[in-house]
Amino acid sequence: MNTPVIDFVKEYTKSGFSRFHMPGHKGKGVLGFEGFDITEIKGAGNVFCGEGIIAESEQNATSLFGFKSTLYCTEGSTQCIKAMLYLARQAALKAGNCGKRVLAVRNIHKAFVFGCFQNDIDVSWLNADCNITYDSIKNACDLTCDKPFALYVTSPDYYGKVLNIPEIAKICEKLNLYLLVDNAHGAYLRFLSPSKHPVSLGAFMSADSAHKTLPVLTGGAYLQLSDKVPEDIANKAKASLSLFCSTSPSYLILQSLDGCNAYLADGYGKKLELLIQELDNLKEKLKREGWEISRSDPLRLVIKSVSKGYTGYELAELLEKQRIQCEFGDFENLVLMFTPENTYVELNKLEKAITAVPPSGRTANPLPKVKNLPKRVLSVRQAISSESECVEAEKALGRICAIPLSPFPPEVPIAVSGEEIDKNIISLMKAYGIKSVWVVKE
Ligand SMILES: Cc1ncc(COP(=O)(O)O)c(C=O)c1O
Repeated sequence: MNTPVIDFVKEYTKSGFSRFHMPGHKGKGVLGFEGFDITEIKGAGNVFCGEGIIAESEQNATSLFGFKSTLYCTEGSTQCIKAMLYLARQAALKAGNCGKRVLAVRNIHKAFVFGCFQNDIDVSWLNADCNITYDSIKNACDLTCDKPFALYVTSPDYYGKVLNIPEIAKICEKLNLYLLVDNAHGAYLRFLSPSKHPVSLGAFMSADSAHKTLPVLTGGAYLQLSDKVPEDIANKAKASLSLFCSTSPSYLILQSLDGCNAYLADGYGKKLELLIQELDNLKEKLKREGWEISRSDPLRLVIKSVSKGYTGYELAELLEKQRIQCEFGDFENLVLMFTPENTYVELNKLEKAITAVPPSGRTANPLPKVKNLPKRVLSVRQAISSESECVEAEKALGRICAIPLSPFPPEVPIAVSGEEIDKNIISLMKAYGIKSVWVVKE
């Protein structure tokens, strides 16, 4: 597969042009790759207009994914999520819905909250532990004053939990809801055989971080439109993406997305299959060693570290001593992410390091369990737009959260803007070591 963006920039770096254009480094600098960091000079296309070499490269991505459109984003799934909400709202308005409300499963990433704020959308929540059934969604819809226009779900989530998208898509169709999927962790799912990508399985649109699971620079992402997206809404997609990002897209990221097409076209499916086989073997070996392994999407290893008496933080530290850096540890789990760019030598090193960890002989303290969602007092928009102040955790009881409060990672808010900070939230803040929170000024 050709790589028009990479080719253009390579040619430009060799061309001997003196750069009287942005960026200010003029192609020279301490990093060594500044020459490749260009802007929209003649011939470089334009990501917002879908012109020239960028359009050609996006067309390559679209043909690889096989959906209606695969659009490049340089500011992550964060940008895609906001644009996805905007487009679904546009579709809803056209269809006669007021476009004011979305139903969302609560394990959202905070980018969704920012998207609701920027699009002036209010949210009704479904508890993340609930079964997503026709009845649960219908009941949630019936409880709202204005009918939701979309169901927003995260699949896979940070722990690799994958939802039954085909089933959920059918329910959404019956209830006239657009199914929007935060697929930040699942761009690669399209290349499993058969595809497990949410858009292949019936989603209306999805936000995919290319940089999380594919060999793409941080920030590279795709907004995926399914064939269900009407033509006039699809025509607004580029404009919608431009609403939520800088007007100076990174050409380093665009080149990386361009190069990824060639990578995907060159036997990626096979590489994926082999890696997943290796990972399945590793998971089985760890289970035999007494580790509990959680069900997850195939490119992730989620070790229930408490099964041997460790918190995820402790187990991560033990592996760090063996020069192994994991994605994320929490009170009960350790999460590791893999791609075919991890070598077999690295997989063996990991297996040896984990199997060498003895049981701690202690019981690790789990995170306090909170069943009920906090009380909503203001809409996301009202809370974020109000005057706010930062208060210490001990003084936050009863105050209204202004800016989403989330441990990092996974940036899944424990309190969303507009919610009252209750005892449960304070205890979670203490557990996560979060010392302060932005609240609405009284
Ligand atoms: C589930 C989920 N959604 C969205 C995002 C935002 O993605 P990005 O970093 O590509 O903007 C993240 C980031 O970690 C995430 O974990």
